[in-house]
Amino acid sequence: MNNRTETPYQHITVSPLAGALGAEIGGVDLARPLDDATLAEVRRAFLENLVIFFRDQDLSPEAHKAFARHFGELHVNTYFPTVEGHEDVQLIVKEPSDVKNIGDRWHSDVTYKKQPALGSLLYAKETPAAGGDTMFSNMYLAFESLSEGMREMLRGLDGYHSAKERFQEIVADAAKPNQGGAGFTFQEGFEQEAVHPAIRTHPETGRDALYVNSSFTQRFDGLTVEESQPILKFLFDHVGRPEFTCRFHWTPGSLAFWDNRCAQHYAINDYNGHRRHMNRVTVLGDTPFLASRKDPARVAA
Ligand code: SIN
Repeated sequence: MNNRTETPYQHITVSPLAGALGAEIGGVDLARPLDDATLAEVRRAFLENLVIFFRDQDLSPEAHKAFARHFGELHVNTYFPTVEGHEDVQLIVKEPSDVKNIGDRWHSDVTYKKQPALGSLLYAKETPAAGGDTMFSNMYLAFESLSEGMREMLRGLDGYHSAKERFQEIVADAAKPNQGGAGFTFQEGFEQEAVHPAIRTHPETGRDALYVNSSFTQRFDGLTVEESQPILKFLFDHVGRPEFTCRFHWTPGSLAFWDNRCAQHYAINDYNGHRRHMNRVTVLGDTPFLASRKDPARVAA
């Protein structure tokens, strides 16, 4: 079941992109202050569609951040290069000579922190005419479509998430010619590992969603990598089932705002020879929990 209701919108237009998730929002200029009624509808569209898209926006880094701040505190990411003068606006750039991109696997952002990202707001500055799309997948559906036996097993498991493996790989690539990742750094000393329930309850919708991802979840807590790997591999493949997904084609001025608590995304690397420049702002969220556990906060303790 997707999360959409039949209640009409009065202040914005909402055009679903696929059955599972995703909607394009119209009638909003994000560079201007939003009135309360419009903002409330944007918030509802976000929760109902998991990822929302705005076209033809003209957003300075200040305006980008001002819109993001309606949803929470901004995350300063210590790994990504940033826009000059804006330590909380990450640069995601692939040059024409780069053969690798950032984000070409299913993942949710910043799950290596104890309080991971609520959402990410990605703004397109320069895009290839064809290719460079981003896919999104609905983690409520991914969880609900599993067998009862698998759901029950996962409810008892916690995932161990780490930034180290993925970001060290990107930094190592960046040292070689044409591998992308320019400006990425990896430093010890920042919070870079966390344990979260494999199934988390969305704090606003109350629905349970699958919460392991192929960028950062290394294993289940208390199990070895070898023991965890077959189940994680199954789940990482399961996340990408076409019926859970939507796909967005970017044009300059597009903004995507996705809910990392219940959706994953995948940046398709099919545009070698072309430049793609995105600015990303990430909003911090709460500590993940599973409401049906006797002690839902067990992992946070
Ligand atoms: C990301 O993984 O946050 C980047 C997505 C994209 O560049 O499309």
